[in-house]
Amino acid sequence: MSFRTGPSVFKDRAKVSFDYIPEKLPHREAQVQRLFSIFRPVGDSGLAANAFLYGSVGTGKTHTAKRFCEDFRRYANEHGRGLDHVHVNCRQKMGDDAVLLHILKHFDPRFPDRGFSIPEKLDSLRKWIEKQQVHLIVILDEVDVLLKKSGSEVVYTFSRFGEEAGHGNVSLILISQRREALDHLDAAALSTFRRTNAVEFPKYSRKELVDILGIRVGLAFHPGSVDDGVVDLISDIASEYGDARYAIDLLERAGAIADEEFAGEVTPENVRAAKASVTPSDLPDRLRELEVPQKLVLLGVARKIRRKTYITTGDAEEAYAVACEEFSQKRRAHTQFWKYIQDLDALGLIDAKRSGEGVVGKTTMISLPGIPAKLLIESLEAALRRPRSRPS
Ligand SMILES: Nc1ncnc2c1ncn2[C@@H]1O[C@H](COP(=O)(O)OP(=O)(O)OP(=O)(O)O)[C@@H](O)[C@H]1O
Ligand SMILES: [Mg+2]
Repeated sequence: MSFRTGPSVFKDRAKVSFDYIPEKLPHREAQVQRLFSIFRPVGDSGLAANAFLYGSVGTGKTHTAKRFCEDFRRYANEHGRGLDHVHVNCRQKMGDDAVLLHILKHFDPRFPDRGFSIPEKLDSLRKWIEKQQVHLIVILDEVDVLLKKSGSEVVYTFSRFGEEAGHGNVSLILISQRREALDHLDAAALSTFRRTNAVEFPKYSRKELVDILGIRVGLAFHPGSVDDGVVDLISDIASEYGDARYAIDLLERAGAIADEEFAGEVTPENVRAAKASVTPSDLPDRLRELEVPQKLVLLGVARKIRRKTYITTGDAEEAYAVACEEFSQKRRAHTQFWKYIQDLDALGLIDAKRSGEGVVGKTTMISLPGIPAKLLIESLEAALRRPRSRPS
């Protein structure tokens, strides 16, 4: 077989991939500086510090935290201190046991998956940190999922880690899309977390996205292969969400489309085509993790909530029933429906709260954190129409 080949617009496509961490993060200088002032005592005097980063999707929280830890290690080393960091995605590592295991595997990749209790794991971690003589920064990303599932225990334990020895040797960076994420902490954890320093990550403006994209174009594409209007158009589209990930995904996809045509140049028309296949936010990944009935429940919630802030579970169940019929799926019983609501809540896709006053009897009120209902509806309908690619 022979392949038709032609010039590629990409010089280095890895530079627009999701896991590339740029050396410099333009328009995050203030956040980095803030992190430095919070963590400076770690480097200077070996004290522990904690920070809480929040902001909506694609505002650079994860990459700023990782970049900061890399750079801060050098600072600490210059001050004669060892520093290490480990990043935990709490949505992927559900529960405190899985979080601890992930951290241990950072030190010892062969640490067994089973057979050790949480106290034993903590003990083991303590020994590793002492042996390696490092201060460890644990990044708990999407921490609200962990807090909802396992409570405050891990956060509390880490924020007290090493205090027996007179100085903390674990620091925490908590990350969430929601400013209220720490509301889930109980009083004890909150009190040790009193010194928590919140760092806000605002949405990127159109102009900021132009800068971010401009740098990526220079890194990833051959000179002269990206039409002048491309960066402007992408920034326009993505500025509605202020989401840098969406902007970079659009850029990559537009480049790939240009390559399919061997055009040698990315044009605004390629961007428009890319827009049809790229969704803002990490929604597709999150929805892929759901079973069909959970998708139907979420679709019901999203449809009901479009013009409201809150709906009741009764409203949601009604809309769920309609969705089941529409997609020819068996409607599950109330207890099962209720379990799905709790699953979606634990995954951070919805917020379910017991109502306070004003509503007759106790009922649960549901709201959507951050994700626009319109986007959810479109994505879910598309996913439910497609045949399943993965057996459940
Ligand atoms: N200031 C920036 N400069 C360059 N690239 C950036 C900047 N901010 C974000 N990015 C890029 O945008 C993408 C999304 O960033 P990141 O994953 O850090 O967002 P996030 O705030 O953690 O989003 P989420 O809440 O969805 O996890 C990454 O590819 C990152 O490299
Ligand atoms: Mg992130």
